Amino acid sequence: MGMRAVVLHGHGSVDMLRYQDFPEPVCDRGEVLVRVHACSVNRLDLWVRRGLPGREVVFPHILGCDISGYLASDSPDTGMVKGSRVVIYPAIHCGVCRFCRMGKENRCSSVSIIGGFSRWHGGYAEYVRVPARNIVPIPPQSNLSMDDAASINVAYLTVYSMLMQAGGIMQDVHGSIESDYSPSLLVYGAGSGIGVASIQLAKAMGYRVMATVGDGSKVERSYSLGCDLVIDRSKQDIVREVMNFTGDEGADLVIDHVGTWDTSIKCLRRSGVVAVCGATASEHASAEIRPFYNRLAYMFGAYLGSKRELEGMIRFMDEHGIRPVIDSVFALEDAMLAHARMEMNQHFGKILLRVADSHSL
Ligand SMILES: NC(=O)c1ccc[n+]([C@@H]2O[C@H](COP(=O)([O-])OP(=O)(O)OC[C@H]3O[C@@H](n4cnc5c(N)ncnc54)[C@H](OP(=O)(O)O)[C@@H]3O)[C@@H](O)[C@H]2O)c1
Ligand SMILES: [Zn+2]
Repeated sequence: MGMRAVVLHGHGSVDMLRYQDFPEPVCDRGEVLVRVHACSVNRLDLWVRRGLPGREVVFPHILGCDISGYLASDSPDTGMVKGSRVVIYPAIHCGVCRFCRMGKENRCSSVSIIGGFSRWHGGYAEYVRVPARNIVPIPPQSNLSMDDAASINVAYLTVYSMLMQAGGIMQDVHGSIESDYSPSLLVYGAGSGIGVASIQLAKAMGYRVMATVGDGSKVERSYSLGCDLVIDRSKQDIVREVMNFTGDEGADLVIDHVGTWDTSIKCLRRSGVVAVCGATASEHASAEIRPFYNRLAYMFGAYLGSKRELEGMIRFMDEHGIRPVIDSVFALEDAMLAHARMEMNQHFGKILLRVADSHSL
C-alpha cells in the first residue's frame, strides 16, 4: 500500500521537500498506525531539513513531530478503537528506564523525537507508525479541534513543562508565594510557536508577560493575545524596557529559545530563572558571569515535557478556554511554502500542514 508524503532525500533548502508516493508504514508489535489529520511545522523541522553538525538522519526521512490524527485500527495495547481522536506524544523513549518508569519520559537517556533527528518517520505523511505508548487520546469533551491538536505537542508542551519547573523553583526560593503576587515573564518572539504558547499559558497562570517582536507589524497582535508589554527588538533595548516595566526589579522568569543568554540574565530579578529551550539565533551563547551569580540566578534546559504533562496541559487549556494560535494552514504538498514562511519569520502562531485534505480515501 502506498501513501502521499513529503520526503527528504538529503539535507538542504526548501527544494529538498519532495511530495511523492511512499510506502505506507507497517507496524511491528507494540506499535500503532495513525491516519494523520494535521502536522504543524516547528523550527526543529527546519534544522533537520538543513542538517546540524554531528546529528544523523537516515534518508529517506519524513519530517513532522507535532501530529494529530485518528487510529487506523483497533489498538489492544492502548484499549482504543479504530477512529479514536489522538495526538502523538513526540518523545520516543525506552519505556523501562528509571525516568520512563517515573513518568519523566523526556529525561530518558535514549530519547529522540518522531520526525526529528531519529529513525522514526514523522507526520508529513498520510500515515505515521508510532509506539503505542506514544498515543495520547484527545478527551471527547475537549474543545480542541483536530487542527488545534496538531499545534500543541511540541512548543506548547515544552512551555508548559518549563512553567511547571520554574514554578517549582520559585516556590522553593520564595517559600509560599503571596496569592496576590503576579510573577513576570519575558519571552522572545511573541509570534513564535514558543512565544504564543508562553503568552497564553503564562497569562492563564497569572504572570505579567513581556514579549519581544522583530518588527512593528507584530506589536498589535501580541497585545491582543494578552501581552502586558511588547518590545520591538529592532529599535528598543530589551534590558532597559524590562527594567522600566518591572520597576528595576527584573523578570522572575525568562524563556530563552533564541540563545541570547547575556540579555536573558541581565533581564532577571534576583533569584530569577532562565529556562533555555532553543538556539535559533546561534549554536553558541556567551554571557557575562557576574550578573548571573550576583542575581543568585537559576538556569535550566528543557526538552519537550513528559507524557503526563501533555495530558495535564490539554486539561489546563480546556479549563482556561485556551485554543492555540494558528497562523496559517497549508496543504501537505505545499510544505515548501510553509517552511519558507517560517524561515522568513513572517508567521504569528503555528503553521499547519493539513494532511487530511490530501487523503485519497
Ligand atoms: N527544547 C525543546 O524541546 C524545544 C521545543 C520547541 C521548540 N524548541 C526550539 O525553540 C526555538 C523556537 O521554536 P519555534 O518552533 O517556536 O520557532 P519559530 O516559531 O520559528 O520562532 C522563532 C522566532 O524567534 C525570533 N527570533 C529569532 N532570532 C531572534 C533573536 N536574536 N532575538 C529575539 N528573537 C529572535 C523570531 O521572531 P521575531 O523576528 O518576531 O523576533 C522568530 O520568529 C527553536 O530553536 C526550536 O528548536 C525547542
Ligand atoms: Zn527510558
